Amino acid sequence: MARISYVNGQYVDHRNASVHIEDRGFQFADSVYEVFAVQNSCLIDGDAHLDRLDRSLNELSITQPMSRAALKLVIREVLRRNHITYGALYLQVTRGQADRDFPFPSDITPTLVLTVKRLKPFDYNAVSQGIKVISIDDIRWKRCDIKTVSLLAGAMGKTQAKQAGAYEAWQVDGEGCITEGTSSNAWIVTQDGLLVTRSLSTDILGGITRKTLLAIAEKENLKFEERSFTLAEAKSAREAFSSSSTVFIRPIIQIDDAKIGDGKPGPFCLNVLKLYGQYMENCS
Ligand code: PDD
Repeated sequence: MARISYVNGQYVDHRNASVHIEDRGFQFADSVYEVFAVQNSCLIDGDAHLDRLDRSLNELSITQPMSRAALKLVIREVLRRNHITYGALYLQVTRGQADRDFPFPSDITPTLVLTVKRLKPFDYNAVSQGIKVISIDDIRWKRCDIKTVSLLAGAMGKTQAKQAGAYEAWQVDGEGCITEGTSSNAWIVTQDGLLVTRSLSTDILGGITRKTLLAIAEKENLKFEERSFTLAEAKSAREAFSSSSTVFIRPIIQIDDAKIGDGKPGPFCLNVLKLYGQYMENCS
């Protein structure tokens, strides 16, 4: 079955889907994006992702490509044409195409691109397997709260992780504190059973999974704190995990050479993973 993507008003064969070589997304990473999980034909936290997209566009003064209602119709249509029940939807908006020049052009039409990927349904047993992470310096720019496609530092970090036999790299700021993973938010559970994740600022992306997990923690009366934590604190934590729309929640069993807890996924994380799985099942 042909894979269909959306490019500027057209539903096209994925193999021929393209934008112009002078698109500012290509030349300046002048572009923002979202990745949505699709479970049982439902877009998980769709409106929260679209809210974050609006924010990213506003922060960079990129014109909205279309109304939210129209965007939702395009999303539905891309899922329908690809017969996607479980997968990931990628949506990117660039400032548009113009002769290469640094200042933002004033009269420019944004480029809108959507692609989908079929994935296996959320599987608690598969996702609950522990992963290893490495720590790396956070060398990114100072507006990590905007979800731009300027992802080279993340790609470098993830490659380093892969070469070290790890799944993710946690980035460390100048004060020795973890900011976040290259494509996920970072969490620990302290020896006292307190859930900790870094508070929102320009240093990290406000993850939608992070937001949902905090809401779940609140509802379940789990004690949590939004604050910075050092790499040393993470290594001596009782548990640790990463969260994102594509990997959901992944228990971490090792950071660099340090085993976390007893080196197996811990009960707090597995409980949160179970609750998140239930949350996705109830999505409509
Ligand atoms: N990345 N932090 C960074 C730097 C990210 O790139 C991501 C997501 C997250 C988690 O955000 P969310 O829970 O909204 O997915 C945190 C996506 C999945 C990606 O780039 O593929």
